Amino acid sequence: MPGGVISSGGLNGLAQPCAFVIFGATGNLAVNKLLPALYHLDRHGRLPPSLTVVGFGRRTWSDEQWRDEVGSALRDQLGAQLKEEVLGRFLARLRFVAGDLSLEEDYQRLRGRLLDGAEATHLIFYLAIAPDQYSVVSDRLGAVGLNEEVGGWRRLVVEKPFGYDLESAKLLDARLHRHFSERQIFRIDHYLGKSTIQNILVFRFANLFLEPLWNRNYIDHVQISHAEDKGIARRAGYYDQAGALRDMIQSHLLQMLTLVAMEPPASLEAEALRDEKVKVLRSIRPIPPRAVHAHAFRAQYTQGQIHGRPVPGYIEEEGVATDSATETYAALKLYIDNWRWRGVPFYIRTGKRLPENTSMVSVRFRHPPQQLFRETPIEQLKPNWLLLGIQPCDSLRLEVQTKREGLELRTTTTQLDATYCESEASRLGAYEALLLDVMSGDQSLFLRYDEVEWAWRVVDPVLKVWAQERDFIHTYPAGTWGPDESSRLFDQDDHVWRNVL
Ligand code: BG6
Repeated sequence: MPGGVISSGGLNGLAQPCAFVIFGATGNLAVNKLLPALYHLDRHGRLPPSLTVVGFGRRTWSDEQWRDEVGSALRDQLGAQLKEEVLGRFLARLRFVAGDLSLEEDYQRLRGRLLDGAEATHLIFYLAIAPDQYSVVSDRLGAVGLNEEVGGWRRLVVEKPFGYDLESAKLLDARLHRHFSERQIFRIDHYLGKSTIQNILVFRFANLFLEPLWNRNYIDHVQISHAEDKGIARRAGYYDQAGALRDMIQSHLLQMLTLVAMEPPASLEAEALRDEKVKVLRSIRPIPPRAVHAHAFRAQYTQGQIHGRPVPGYIEEEGVATDSATETYAALKLYIDNWRWRGVPFYIRTGKRLPENTSMVSVRFRHPPQQLFRETPIEQLKPNWLLLGIQPCDSLRLEVQTKREGLELRTTTTQLDATYCESEASRLGAYEALLLDVMSGDQSLFLRYDEVEWAWRVVDPVLKVWAQERDFIHTYPAGTWGPDESSRLFDQDDHVWRNVL
């Protein structure tokens, strides 16, 4: 469902015209995610009739030229799923304003295009541009008064990464706040728009049986893992500066961790929910510089095979320096020092060019305290696992021990499995859900600044040490699950990565 379990998805107040302005209209994000998401919403009848989509970019395109470009990009991406009559309706919403992100006069023209002749218009500004341009655009919008809520609201959507580290995130936030209030700023983390991620909350808080077990008394450790078979595609310019820790862990995976570990919020209102998430982030034990190697591991892929096809190594990718020490694999061990979780390791891992695309949360329960089944000694008794699959399928699996057939009292692992795979065509994805929330003004699934800041505090010490140690990085062949050395993070010999469901 768009809007997921938390957000209202309501578009009250959109009776008056609304313009969705995309900065970076010809870039990857706009072409691959935003425009398809808007098209899907139109197809499902979820866009207000008066909504226009305004592209701002350096090409000197007319409206018609941009419509042609978007039309052919959507046809390529959606193939047989594309409905020509919906496409026609969608393209009619598109306008293009040619302009340079840094030139104030171009924003004056944008302003004219958006507001001249319009009595009242709501405006959404989506920053689908390089992160170092966020504050430039916000300043220029402020300079021409496009931040002022006259005749309608103004909302600024900011993509991740929000900053490059703790310091730059603080500076960026202060810059944005010169012109926009917190209520106007929507810091997007598209993982929160995935209905499977929201399912973590439903599973935890709509099922009472779990609550007594969901703590240090019964849980041995938790793993949060995101694996991709993709490489960095054509994103070297961004990725080589960012690396896996900033790209995935600081944002998406720490967000997942907060949902797994948080206390029940007083309500699902934006502030109540975000208060609880921040409490988790604040409770994460800081990693001192001398402990970075015990808590963090990084590696980079070399050439190998993905699904039987040869692929280049990271430093052979176009745009990557041959001596780059940027990590494409990162793993962390974190402790949450609070009443519920003290002493339980949370292992977090992400990697590119791994064998599969899977994201999952794996929770291992403790061993029973006593050996009753003599034929299956306790050291062989398998622990219970609860596996929450995030993608490719929405799944919930509980591994329990049952009696093996035969005369002896021996145990075997049985899986209680509820896996649900929706077809791509019927699914409204994360961006669809979140764009609707921006239009309806629901900030529950967007990050408050303190969440971003505390997440940077978690990874900052690791980033600092890694930035100094540029002469060595572990490697793994593309198509494998990463170096064995990453197991040095584990607290116990019987802790191992769960790679697949
Ligand atoms: C993005 C990262 O935020 O998330 C990418 O920048 C990553 O590097 C992507 O591939 C993963 O998102 P998803 O939705 O495909 O799991």
